[in-house]
Amino acid sequence: MRRGLIGGNWKMNGSREFVAAFASRWTELHATPVDDVFICPPIGLFDALSRALPHVVLGAQNVYLEASGAYTGEHSADMVSDLGARFALVGHSERRQLFGEDDSTVAGKFLASQRAGVTPVLCVGETLDERRAGAAADVVARQIDAVVAAAGIGAFNDAVVAYEPVWAIGTGETATPAEAQEMHEMIRERLTKSDQNVGDAIRILYGGSVKADNAALLFAEPDIDGGLVGGASLDAAELNTIRQSLPEH
Ligand code: 13P
Repeated sequence: MRRGLIGGNWKMNGSREFVAAFASRWTELHATPVDDVFICPPIGLFDALSRALPHVVLGAQNVYLEASGAYTGEHSADMVSDLGARFALVGHSERRQLFGEDDSTVAGKFLASQRAGVTPVLCVGETLDERRAGAAADVVARQIDAVVAAAGIGAFNDAVVAYEPVWAIGTGETATPAEAQEMHEMIRERLTKSDQNVGDAIRILYGGSVKADNAALLFAEPDIDGGLVGGASLDAAELNTIRQSLPEH
C-alpha cells in the first residue's frame, strides 16, 4: 500500500511575515508534526520556515545540476540538502516553459538530487495544444523515458513523480479524476514494464488546481497517491484539508 503524500509548492510567493502567519496557523491545526506533507518555499524563506516549524518537511522548487562552481544565481542539490530539503522538484512545467529546461537538463537535475540524498519529484505534463492534438500520453511518456534512460529504472526506487497537466496549473481548471487517473495509470504501467516493484511502489502525485473541494475525488482514484499543490498550499487551513482528503485520513 502506497502512503499518500502532499507537496505544497509556494512558487515565488511569501515573505518572512507570511511565513510567521502560515506557521502559527499550521501549528494550531497540528498538535503533532506531520510527515506526509512537504512544503517547497522559495530558498530565501527556508530558514524562516524551518525555524518557525522545526518539524516541517522541506522541499526545494528547483536545483542546479552541477555540485558547485560559477553558476550565478543557482543552488546545488547539496546546498538545498544542507538547508534541510528532503525533496526537490525537478522539471516543473514553469521551469521547462519559462527557463527552457529540456528533458536532458531535467534528467541531470534528477541525478544531482539523488547524489545529494534529496528525493527528486519528477514533474511531467502536457500542454493544452499537445492534449488537443491527442499527444498527451506520448509527451508524458517521453518525459518519463528520458529520465529512466539517464538514471536507470532503479533510481525510481527513491523518487516521486508528479503529473501536472500544464493547462490545469494556476488556471482553476482541473483534470477530471478520470482524465488524471488515465495518465497516472499510463505512467505507472510504463515504469512497471521496466520494473514491477518500482511501478507498484512509486508515488504519483497529481498537480493542477488541486483545492480543498476537489482533492478527495482525485485521491480516490487508484493511481493518484496525493497531490502537488500550488496556490492552495499558501493557505495553511486549505492545505490541511487537502491533506485530510488522502484516503488514509
Ligand atoms: P496550482 O495548484 O496553483 O494550479 O499549481 C500547481 C503546481 O504547479 C504545483 O507544482
